[in-house]
Amino acid sequence: MSAALPRHVAIVMDGNGRWARARGGLRADGHRAGVTPVRMVIEECVRHEIGALTLFAFSSENWGRPRDEVMSLMSLFVESLEAEIEELHRRGVRVRFIGERAELDARLRASMASSEQVTAANTRLLLQIALSYGGRSDIVGAARRLAEHVEQRRLAASQIDEPTFAAALALGGIVDPDLFIRTGGEQRISNFLLWNLAYTELYFTDRLWPDFDVAAFEAALQHYAARQRRFGLSAEQVQAVDGGLV
Ligand code: IPE
Ligand code: IPE
Ligand code: MG
Repeated sequence: MSAALPRHVAIVMDGNGRWARARGGLRADGHRAGVTPVRMVIEECVRHEIGALTLFAFSSENWGRPRDEVMSLMSLFVESLEAEIEELHRRGVRVRFIGERAELDARLRASMASSEQVTAANTRLLLQIALSYGGRSDIVGAARRLAEHVEQRRLAASQIDEPTFAAALALGGIVDPDLFIRTGGEQRISNFLLWNLAYTELYFTDRLWPDFDVAAFEAALQHYAARQRRFGLSAEQVQAVDGGLV
């Protein structure tokens, strides 16, 4: 069976808090338990030769959570990154971060920069971690950068088209996600990659993120393989293209 695989998977890792509460633990315990499925999806993407994986780790809006929770998440990010980076590098993973770095503390920013530097030449998997990221602020940032270029007369307003705009966004020119997965049962985007998800296949599961395992990821991939992507065309047109008739 040669099922179609996505080239880029984007995941909203949701449900850590509920997972912990259901066990009588603290929300922070749920975030810690969420590290195991992160490792798993990275391994599975490498194994399937999926080229890019984008994980939503912390949204612009998550800064509004109680200070204790934000602090424990920030410590967890530094700790996990420092613990995992060697192994990621060994596996040929290139790490990139997207989001507002200025808001993060100096130690985390330094770990992020050094992880990006160390893994810059790796090509097996592009792992993008959205940290302090918001889709709207990403779009506004791109508009502002392009406007600056116009002001500086490095760009004419008439040259701004979809590819130019996409290149100014956090993900740059890379292929849009083919598959979006959200765990935790909510069916919403929560300000993740607003521009890039325009034609992405959306998959929602009730499974809470710490319980997301290989079988659950496989189920999402199978769901994706069964979709017919039409990009605005008719089903007959797409069948003709797939069947090599056009
Ligand atoms: C997702 O899990 C992780 C982050 C948002 C950082 P939540 O913490 O949102 O878990 P629930 O949705 O409250 O269960
Ligand atoms: C989205 O989850 C952000 C991340 C998973 C990092 P939230 O838990 O913050 O989203 P809402 O508040 O349910 O929309
Ligand atoms: Mg949540």
